[in-house]
Amino acid sequence: MKSHSAIGLCLLLGAFTPSLGSAETVWLDDLNLAPIVQGWGKAQKNKCAAKKPEDGKPLTISAKRFDRGVGTVAESALNIFLNGDATTFSAQVGADDCKRGSSRTSIEFFVIGDGKQLWRSGVMHTNDAAKAFEVSVAGVNHLLLKVGDADDGNNDDFADWADAKFETKTAKTFKTGGEPVPEPVTPYILTPAAPPTPRINGAKVFGVRLGSPFLFTIPATGDRPMEFSATNLPSGLHLDTKTGQITGSLPSRGEFIVTLGAKNSLGSAEKQFRIVCGDAIALTPPMGWNSWNCFAHMISAEKVRSAADAMVRSGLINHGFTYINIDDFWQNHVPTNEKDVQDLIKPLRDDQGFIVSNARFPDMKGLADYVHDRGLKIGIYSSPGPTTCGGCAGSWLHEEQDAQTFARWGFDFLKYDWCSYGSVTDGSIANPLNVPVRKNASNDDYAIHPFKVMGGFLRDQPRDIIFSLCQYGNNDVWKWGGAVNGSCWRTTGDVNDSWRSIKEIGFTQDKAAPYAKPGNWTDPDMLIVGWVGWGRPHPTSLTPDEQYTHISLWCLLSAPLLIGSDMAKLDDFTLSLLTNDEVLAVDQDELGKQATCVIKVNEISGRVSDLRIYQKELVDGGHAIGFFNLGTEPVKWELSDFTQLHLSGKQIVRDLWRQQNVATLDAAKNSLPLTIPGHGVLLYKFTPAK
Ligand code: GLA
Repeated sequence: MKSHSAIGLCLLLGAFTPSLGSAETVWLDDLNLAPIVQGWGKAQKNKCAAKKPEDGKPLTISAKRFDRGVGTVAESALNIFLNGDATTFSAQVGADDCKRGSSRTSIEFFVIGDGKQLWRSGVMHTNDAAKAFEVSVAGVNHLLLKVGDADDGNNDDFADWADAKFETKTAKTFKTGGEPVPEPVTPYILTPAAPPTPRINGAKVFGVRLGSPFLFTIPATGDRPMEFSATNLPSGLHLDTKTGQITGSLPSRGEFIVTLGAKNSLGSAEKQFRIVCGDAIALTPPMGWNSWNCFAHMISAEKVRSAADAMVRSGLINHGFTYINIDDFWQNHVPTNEKDVQDLIKPLRDDQGFIVSNARFPDMKGLADYVHDRGLKIGIYSSPGPTTCGGCAGSWLHEEQDAQTFARWGFDFLKYDWCSYGSVTDGSIANPLNVPVRKNASNDDYAIHPFKVMGGFLRDQPRDIIFSLCQYGNNDVWKWGGAVNGSCWRTTGDVNDSWRSIKEIGFTQDKAAPYAKPGNWTDPDMLIVGWVGWGRPHPTSLTPDEQYTHISLWCLLSAPLLIGSDMAKLDDFTLSLLTNDEVLAVDQDELGKQATCVIKVNEISGRVSDLRIYQKELVDGGHAIGFFNLGTEPVKWELSDFTQLHLSGKQIVRDLWRQQNVATLDAAKNSLPLTIPGHGVLLYKFTPAK
């Protein structure tokens, strides 16, 4: 943390800032602003926030200009150490005009003194007049200035603390700091070890299309050797009793109820399993691995093979993890000076226009076979634009050929990433097919079109290919993703291994919830546990509790679970996060609902709190409920009003991470005491008692 000494800053200000107020006035913009944390861009003194300092415009709220203040972007936090030396804090706040009229701007200002809320603006939009306030900060040691994103993401969330100043007793300046963080905690494992007796895990339903190659590996934990069985398997399918792999293809549409069995020297297990041969695939969210968060542009066929091996060796396959997905950089690259990819500067396509894999991927079909032989599936990546986000060959004008190539090689999953398609829609490159472009569009056609094209070609292939849309949630993708054959759609920008990213992405998904269902999933991006780092892997920076929050929330959201970690470096804690079958069952629940936030608790015993309670209805009549504490301090809270959760009667409450019942209660009479760690969660299941 950087901070000027009071004397140093005074001298500096004395020399260069003649407009400094009286000795008792300390302006917010005169404090050290370096510690401000915010959604993106940089906070600026006397200007609105910007990506680059030279871009900031004067602070302006609904056409009113301010000479002084601080421009920031939600979610923003600045801690000011007043040490009881200030008497009042005043400001005029609002959304900056640099995105005037944007419907995406929604922000809320908070002034918090020693954990108590002193002032709150309410949600503000562009064109709202600045709100002026003055609050007493007498006796306050620790003042937190926060701007929230009103829970809808931080697009265009420019927020100004204009005319912001303190009246003080004696101080001439104050030290500043960033967002508070929770006390450090060493990783603690909650997931009980799987028993040595057989247990069949994973989804209870599987979708396939008529005639498509079928591959499903029965996910079962327990000592090996294990013998598998499948009673009532429809004709066309065959089980390998040693590996548990079911292969073949179905000659007729319909639903088939199969009893899966697993037996070892210690016992046996059975499970009802539904195979649905129809139009929809991905009847539960895809689970697997993707190369990007860990290897980025440094991916190779060898690393993909070793990820597949690790998926089996680590036992993750026994919990339902299936896909091994190659992200960007399996293709050749357009000319660049970037030294890491010089070996990829080769022709992007062959003489007939078919895409070629790069020298690090010498045999795509062989690689797909390798992955399939292990009972796993394989995914690939492209862009509707001429190049991918990383500058490799994209599918523009070659969509049908590429869909055919991916199918011929044996791929089961395509992530299709918007990226350079912007150059098509803004008219900056040739558009021989006259596809809809943005400037002529009065609707979302220009944004939907490229996904519709590829979705159609994928659907024509003689194998099932999950279509994963990646365009960061633009044009309300959740409303049309299913209609273009999409199985899942990214709803946000790229995740990273920080609390802010998890919070900003994970807790803003309610908008997409009504559209999530079997075959169509909200994708808040990949998992960020284990070793991650985009070509320079390091252990995730998330705290253990933040990782519990991340996995619990993604499961409640019915999100695809794609591990972004180096699979060669899975430690026990990371494995415990990824192998809790009761937690994974929430993600894989057949009903396919997406949890939404049903309760927010902003104050507990007079102190500011940020509890969010997420609820997901499950197929068996139960509810998964996540009690998330977004504050940094542990909180104690009692759930007493069950009507908000629409729960009544006698309920059995089970802690899913610990796999233990914690209470049996009567919703009308009892309450449930909860202690939740800072940035942490309790993930419970409520089941009506018989
Ligand atoms: C975009 C996507 C990422 C990744 C990269 C690859 O940033 O959002 O998930 O696929 O492109 O270049």
